[in-house]
Amino acid sequence: MALILGIETSCDETSAAVVEDGSRVLSNAVASQIRQHAPYGGVVPELAAREHLKAMHPIVSQALKDAGKTIGDIDAIAATNGPGLMPALLVGVNFAKGLAAANNLPFIGINHFIAHIYATFLDTGIEQLKDPQLYPMLALVVSGGHTALVMITIDGKAELIGTTIDDAAGEALDKASKLLGLGYPGGPIIEKTGVKGNPKAYDFPRPLCGGAGKPVPEEHKYNFSFSGIKTSLLYHCQKLGGPEIKLPEQEFYDTVASFQEAVIDVLAKKTLKAAKELKASSIVLAGGVACNGVLRQRLEDLTPKKIKLFLSPRKFCTDNAAMVAGLAYHHLRLGMIDNLALDAFARLPQITTVPFNR
Ligand code: KG4
Ligand code: ZN
Repeated sequence: MALILGIETSCDETSAAVVEDGSRVLSNAVASQIRQHAPYGGVVPELAAREHLKAMHPIVSQALKDAGKTIGDIDAIAATNGPGLMPALLVGVNFAKGLAAANNLPFIGINHFIAHIYATFLDTGIEQLKDPQLYPMLALVVSGGHTALVMITIDGKAELIGTTIDDAAGEALDKASKLLGLGYPGGPIIEKTGVKGNPKAYDFPRPLCGGAGKPVPEEHKYNFSFSGIKTSLLYHCQKLGGPEIKLPEQEFYDTVASFQEAVIDVLAKKTLKAAKELKASSIVLAGGVACNGVLRQRLEDLTPKKIKLFLSPRKFCTDNAAMVAGLAYHHLRLGMIDNLALDAFARLPQITTVPFNR
């Protein structure tokens, strides 16, 4: 039995969790900074780091207490060391290193992007990750920081086959929400507001999808682009006389619903195209935007029966440390222990392997 304490500080959530053997989540304490960043309409990196500094020790104590454990029960300490906001990452990584050094425990650095994929299986059982029938597995990680497709094979090999060439989908939703005066974080607010509108009312562009007779360049076959949709939202609002001049209520709701529809349509279409062309046996939807009910339903509706669809449980979609502690179990199992000099990194690296199915 291995008990791992995980720490997550890559963006605006300070989280600590205790997970047993990669899947039994004994605790998952999360302190959100939404209130602190809301006035700015987005995450301010230095502010995030300062908030992590304040919350770090209390949240780790909380996670241990909720799990009914003490630091003496823990077998390893893990922390997200990238990708993410550098000042924010440094707080969690350093705290974890200090805790590991003081208690003579192994320290494990965790890739946040892979942890999001792993989160999908925290509830449904990690044994199935060994099932050869699920591979090749195509994962769409869609959050405030990432929109990328990764292909995973049964032997733990992985390849990033597509990524956003500008904004992430969550970032586009957050920026759109700011533009429309709806607040932060945009994704959940847009989903809630969009329910009142008609998603077919306005036709926002679907970049890199081959619409309007524009062929998709081969190198962008599985890539995404969301900054154009955002710009067209701005023009659309200006044309209708908003958002400073308040749009009539129904036009406003229709705008929100149609914008969300464009983002979701692109995500679903490109994922299914890749899944079909590359003969994926399963699809995984993970990351903060995976909370979105319209996106979940769309993938349910469009995924052919022969492809198994895994939707991350909503409670593990947004940033949390349970996915960090869970994934770290596989690092520990494979002897992938890190040095206390391990660095943090901001950008998504080329992913070549995942540890969870080896
Ligand atoms: O995974 P996450 O917590 O942080 C990153 O790693 O970026 O994702 C946060 C993102 C934000 O952009 C937020 O607007 C989006 O997830 N999000 C949603 C929903 N809930 C959160 N987007 C669409 N619909 C939602 N219900
Ligand atoms: Zn995340």
